[in-house]
Amino acid sequence: MKALVLAGGSGTRLRPITHTSAKQLVPIANKPVLYYGLEAIADAGIKDVGVIVGETAAEIERAVGDGSAFGLNVTYIAQSQPLGLAHAVLIAREFLGDDDFLLYLGDNFILGGITSLVDEFRANRPDVQLMLTRVANPSAYGVATLTAAGRVAALEEKPERPRSDLAVVGAYLFTRAVHEAVRAIAPSERGELEITDALQWMLDHDRDVRPTVITGYWKDTGNVADMLEANRRVLEVLEPAVDGTVSTDSELIGRVRVCAGAEVRGSRIVGPALIGAGSVVVDSYVGPSTSIAENCRITDSEIEFSIVLDHASITGVRRIDASLIGCHVEVAPAPRVPMSHRFVLGDHSKIRISS
Ligand code: DAU
Repeated sequence: MKALVLAGGSGTRLRPITHTSAKQLVPIANKPVLYYGLEAIADAGIKDVGVIVGETAAEIERAVGDGSAFGLNVTYIAQSQPLGLAHAVLIAREFLGDDDFLLYLGDNFILGGITSLVDEFRANRPDVQLMLTRVANPSAYGVATLTAAGRVAALEEKPERPRSDLAVVGAYLFTRAVHEAVRAIAPSERGELEITDALQWMLDHDRDVRPTVITGYWKDTGNVADMLEANRRVLEVLEPAVDGTVSTDSELIGRVRVCAGAEVRGSRIVGPALIGAGSVVVDSYVGPSTSIAENCRITDSEIEFSIVLDHASITGVRRIDASLIGCHVEVAPAPRVPMSHRFVLGDHSKIRISS
């Protein structure tokens, strides 16, 4: 069995972070979301992985390499434009051959991995094994309706009026029967070859499409709120450790990890929280569900429920909450007179001012 991991696309909902970085590489608990997927694939016993890459190919290839760090053999497949999930399957045909495969969306985060889904598929080998989960906002996803007997009755992509609350999770298992379907469908209104349409085609042609409804935690990390929530979940099970230095006038409460080379002085950190290697926290409060990446400086500030990326610096600001702060960003107070805000904001930045 092979895996096809989708790491192309454009990530418009995570702008401006995705102007400079692939959305699959935005970190959850200081680890790119894509790594969780690759680890889950290796755990499920799959070795040969095709990775679909688009305009951020160089960055993805730098981060994943030949896959050996994950125990995988990675082959890169270039997609000239993000023409849809089924398009990605179409262009991967040579790599996939006639093998069964897992299609995994690189921005999906499935706590607990995919091993049981893969085992279920291996045992029964239906044409398709889908993973479904109940969500509050089904119109943001592919949505499945089931028959009374629990079979898949129909599938729709991001319907305005969803007929159920069962969203399609971004991990699908296929036999080679899917190739006929992706060749048969036409682009949707948004110009993409939708995997949902390929699945509907298979239903219409009496293929065996089986659902597995999961109750575990799943997030499509395509937007900031979902990133923060996934980050919170991972931090909740963080093993506390102090590998860096913490001064005696600092206080660590709950699950806190201070990585090697990090320094905490005169500060209070209430976990779960992660302070990355080389970061310095001085005279500050870092509250629950916060990940500070590597080589950041937090000085005389308060921050909680946030993700801070590498080399960011926050000085004299209280309090930052529910924020995603990009690499090399500087946040600092403006002069007191005149009372004004001063910004240098990149395209698509989002600012919420509380004064
Ligand atoms: O996350 C689950 C949802 O994923 C499903 O419920 C939907 O049915 C499915 O269509 C998909 O919807 P999204 O709108 O979230 O897909 P997105 O455009 O974000 O693409 C998912 C991943 O695939 C992402 O890592 C980018 C990558 N991608 C996307 C496209 C369209 C590619 O590599 N190539 C592409 O052409």
